[in-house]
Amino acid sequence: MSYVFQMISVERGIEYTELVKEAPWELESRPRHGGEIYFNNVNFRHKSDGPLVLRNVYAAFYPGEKYGIVGRTGAGKSSLIAALFRLSEPEGDICIDDILTTRIGLHDLRKKMSVALQVCIAEHSHMFFL
Ligand SMILES: Nc1ncnc2c1ncn2[C@@H]1O[C@H](COP(=O)(O)OP(=O)(O)O)[C@@H](O)[C@H]1O
Ligand SMILES: [Mg+2]
Repeated sequence: MSYVFQMISVERGIEYTELVKEAPWELESRPRHGGEIYFNNVNFRHKSDGPLVLRNVYAAFYPGEKYGIVGRTGAGKSSLIAALFRLSEPEGDICIDDILTTRIGLHDLRKKMSVALQVCIAEHSHMFFL
């Protein structure tokens, strides 16, 4: 590797140490297995100084059910998932099994959920329109 590339790696490494830290990875409240999800008056922006991309969202998703999140491009479908995974911190309450996601460590929150996008619409029994 050339000297220049090595120096860029060092520079990147230093930059990463200066990033604002995410919330704690594990906390006392840990999700159980049901997976009931509530959105209660949720607002969400991808960056703290960015525009609101979700406004006053109320939704309930029950375990064992399938839901389709429906909306045009830019409606906020992906942002709903970003809010659930706390890629940026949402305003309002998002609960899994009655535990606020803000009280669940990020590792617990993220490793217990996975995302499968664009599943056949006919498989869904419920639709959530954005
Ligand atoms: N990572 C991101 N950073 C900043 N803005 C984003 C990001 N992802 C999406 N947005 C913005 O959030 C809004 C909703 O987009 P998105 O959630 O991707 O909608 P959809 O998935 O329904 O197409 C859009 O205005 C989009 O530009
Ligand atoms: Mg999307």
